[in-house]
Amino acid sequence: MQAATKCPFDHHAINDVETVWGTYEGLREQGVVFSPEHGGFYVLSKHEHVLSALRDPDTFASGQGTRIPAIGDGLIIPLDTDPPRHTEYRALISERITPDSVRGMVGALRGLIEGLVDDFYAKGGGDWVTEVGLPLPLNVLVHVVGFTPETVTHFRDLTEESWKVISETDLLEARAGLQDLVRGEVQRHRETRPDDYITWLLDKEVDGRPIADDELERILLAFAVAGHETTMNASGSMLRYLADDPARQTRLREQPELIPAFVEEVLRYSSPVQCIGRFVTRDVEVGGINIPAGSRVLLVYAGANRDLERFDRADEFDVDRSAAGHLAFGFGRHQCPGALLARTELRLILEKLITLPEVEYAGDPDFGALGGGTMNGPVSLPLRFAANLSPNERGVA
Ligand code: HEM
Repeated sequence: MQAATKCPFDHHAINDVETVWGTYEGLREQGVVFSPEHGGFYVLSKHEHVLSALRDPDTFASGQGTRIPAIGDGLIIPLDTDPPRHTEYRALISERITPDSVRGMVGALRGLIEGLVDDFYAKGGGDWVTEVGLPLPLNVLVHVVGFTPETVTHFRDLTEESWKVISETDLLEARAGLQDLVRGEVQRHRETRPDDYITWLLDKEVDGRPIADDELERILLAFAVAGHETTMNASGSMLRYLADDPARQTRLREQPELIPAFVEEVLRYSSPVQCIGRFVTRDVEVGGINIPAGSRVLLVYAGANRDLERFDRADEFDVDRSAAGHLAFGFGRHQCPGALLARTELRLILEKLITLPEVEYAGDPDFGALGGGTMNGPVSLPLRFAANLSPNERGVA
């Protein structure tokens, strides 16, 4: 077995997301590498390697935190936990966000999406990210979880603040605002007990005892962070790929049955969650490299999703491919429990858009940096609808 090649890869230093795909290609070519940044961590970026780690979650554990650099033993439930706690915590989410419950939400989701997109269309477009991309998942959190509309409006700014910092102390400080908000929601629910998910959680038990307030807050933090930014970024990337190539829009209009495949390709190609960490609990070998117990490992889902050995012409966006097997939602024990909800939102957006004129760029998009070293999606995406162009702008005399 060989020692890993040293490579100073730093996911927190990716200031131009557009360049990151070349970096991942270089990483895949080297196989498993070791980065000395942030206390040192191994980087897995080939699909085969990432999947092998996800198939062995006892060795590639989450309970010591999934962030690199680490914050204590993690902060978010169930993301930063292992069994047996993970199993109980996870049930508190999957019992509520079931395929049936998501199907039951489709009418409400469609109404919400149609309203947001109609407003966007009526004013001739605007910045997709702030006008549709963000309000949509925030409204869904009001509907699904029971946060107040006032609470969710603060999620974005507070999350963005927390992404700007790297050190543990700064991050905990930046997250304090979010924690105060969710603490306030727990308190409000204890007092008024509205009929919603948070009230349902108050009556649940883990380990044969009532859930502690600290645990409730960490579960709600998962929704606050994981539930809004990911979907916002996915819809932003989706609109970007539509604006990049009008032929894709024509295709979806002519063959709406391609919409689910389009959504999967958006997820594979953009990887809204680009990477996430694990802690190695025993000596293990990946790709001929020994990774000692106690190491941190970064799983680069985005690298895996564009691995030429797994996906033919992986660097091309192709609605005709099968994107099945992409790791945009992770895989196995921690695979995203919000995946069906997110896919449904993205599908409904496309179903609405194909009833409207084509979208196109109304200015330069800003793709920004990787938020928190992991989140990928446009920061601003100025769009307009083709039919809103004046004859002059369309080049008609
Ligand atoms: C396009 C949108 C989304 C993407 C790309 C995404 C991606 C992910 C990924 C990659 C993981 C696995 C992390 C790991 O391997 O450790 C994950 C976990 C999780 N996601 Fe999502 N997510 C999305 C939407 C949502 C939504 C809408 C919700 C909730 C309403 C949600 C809640 C969660 C939770 C609670 C976990 C932790 C699961 C566990 O540790 O067992 N996500 N997500």
